[in-house]
Amino acid sequence: MKPLYYILFFVIFGPRYIFFIICQNVPSPRSQQTSSLVGTRFYFFGGSSKIPTNEVWYIDLSNSFNISTPPWHSDVVMPVGYGLGTSCLSPIDNSSVFLVGGRTSIITSATTFYYAYISSVYKFNSKTSQWTTPTINNFNSSFTSRNEIQAVIDNNGKIFIFGGNDYFDSTTTPIFNYYNDINTLDITTMTWSTQTQPQSVFSFYGYTATLLPNGLIVYIGGTRGSNISTSSDNIVQIQVFDTKSYTWSTKPVSGSTITSRRYHSAVLTQDGNIIIYGGAIHNNISGGIAYVFSDIAVLNTNSWVWSVPNVSGTSAPPLTQHSAALYKNYMILAFGASSASILYTNNIYILDIKNYTWVTTFNIPTTTNPARQTQSNGNSSTDHDSSNLYIGIGIEIIATPGTFNT
Ligand SMILES: *[C@@H]1O[C@H](CO)[C@@H](O)[C@H](O)[C@H]1NC(C)=O
Ligand SMILES: *[C@@H]1O[C@H](CO)[C@@H](O)[C@H](O)[C@H]1NC(C)=O
Ligand SMILES: *[C@@H]1O[C@H](CO)[C@@H](O)[C@H](O)[C@H]1NC(C)=O
Ligand SMILES: *[C@@H]1O[C@H](CO)[C@@H](O)[C@H](O)[C@H]1NC(C)=O
Ligand SMILES: *[C@@H]1O[C@H](CO)[C@@H](O)[C@H](O)[C@H]1NC(C)=O
Ligand SMILES: *[C@@H]1O[C@H](CO)[C@@H](O)[C@H](O)[C@H]1NC(C)=O
Ligand SMILES: *[C@@H]1O[C@H](CO)[C@@H](O)[C@H](O)[C@H]1NC(C)=O
Ligand SMILES: *[C@@H]1O[C@H](CO)[C@@H](O)[C@H](O)[C@H]1NC(C)=O
Repeated sequence: MKPLYYILFFVIFGPRYIFFIICQNVPSPRSQQTSSLVGTRFYFFGGSSKIPTNEVWYIDLSNSFNISTPPWHSDVVMPVGYGLGTSCLSPIDNSSVFLVGGRTSIITSATTFYYAYISSVYKFNSKTSQWTTPTINNFNSSFTSRNEIQAVIDNNGKIFIFGGNDYFDSTTTPIFNYYNDINTLDITTMTWSTQTQPQSVFSFYGYTATLLPNGLIVYIGGTRGSNISTSSDNIVQIQVFDTKSYTWSTKPVSGSTITSRRYHSAVLTQDGNIIIYGGAIHNNISGGIAYVFSDIAVLNTNSWVWSVPNVSGTSAPPLTQHSAALYKNYMILAFGASSASILYTNNIYILDIKNYTWVTTFNIPTTTNPARQTQSNGNSSTDHDSSNLYIGIGIEIIATPGTFNT
């Protein structure tokens, strides 16, 4: 009788108590984190406020919520502080996330840290919340400390990373080297490879990379150049890398005039549109933020035409160095800098891409795919690990009708 009594006690008194704990759990403002959508969880790794963080957070997209109270959950912290890197979800198991490059750091106190480039790849198992440092065959040490990059992963598990820069922390003069190579990591064999590029391919960082189903990677925005003599990439001459032939081409783009920028976000819709949001122009000399965008632009990758949709609802503020993901018909934005003086935020904004309307409520669409839902929610009857069981309980409790409406 005792176990049953305990369970009943938990069911009756547990929900409110656990909900209360989750409610208090809100990440602090940050920018420069990297993010990945894993099933119904939108994960955020690291980021920076005054100093880098090693925190891992996710919002649970399996239930509706009001954007003023997102369903935040914290997960097991990273082995290092992390910023300006990139992450890819494994298409092999749909649950492992690979973090590549980035500025990695050891945090020594609430206000101190130092950069430490121990590994260029970290692997997160989202099912067991475990971090590992995989052994990489043929790793190119010139990639160590590469950052301000965005990687894509193809269906076979090959990660492609273009360019980026080095950042070596120094008390005197920071040293930046710029690259225009393509580095690849095959996660099925954990083998690294570098393809050096013709000089005509400019060094890039701060761009977005979007892989199309036909194997083309579309690079939008970012900055090209060397050391402080940088210039924004021209957003009407879009560089495209073919992952099948390993060749570059430039797509001339027509349509609306879109201002060049860096650190914006980009998502790909099922009909081949890349939707970008925000980004910034930086001061050529100081490198600091000069202007932050709050516009939405759409690149049709069938016709290579930019357009600016008519947007309704209360717009998100200007955002740069933020995160974005497309979940069903919702483009979800999180964190980021808003201006030269507001460098860190912790808000969520949602754009319904069906009619380009900013919404305040995330409503799970009625046409949910049950297979996709169970994939990341886990099946509580097969979760023997107690930490997973706890997460499973948390999700069920959030699902309790009325919890968020009161
Ligand atoms: C979301 O929450 C805010 C703040 O509590 C509230 O003002 C707003 O009405 C809510 N929106 C909806 C759609 O419930
Ligand atoms: C991973 O997700 C993709 C796309 O949703 C799906 O086609 C594939 O079957 C999934 N693989 C596994 C192992 O779940
Ligand atoms: C490693 O990367 C650097 C920089 O792109 C390149 O010059 C070098 O050829 C690469 N080494 C190998 C073995 O691929
Ligand atoms: C910056 O780049 C220019 C041209 O490549 C070079 O002449 C100069 O020495 C570089 N400055 C630094 C500080 O590296
Ligand atoms: C920054 O560089 C761009 C591109 O070279 C140039 O058009 C712009 O005038 C420069 N801005 C400043 C403030 O120097
Ligand atoms: C936006 O709205 C204006 C006025 O209602 C209309 O003229 C224009 O064609 C619309 N643009 C798009 C892209 O729908
Ligand atoms: C946009 O579409 C959603 C449904 O996806 C609907 O609830 C909303 O009213 C629409 N907004 C506008 C301004 O048409
Ligand atoms: C969930 O567990 C039940 C009971 O063990 C099993 O029948 C079902 O196939 C499992 N579903 C998944 C998606 O693993």
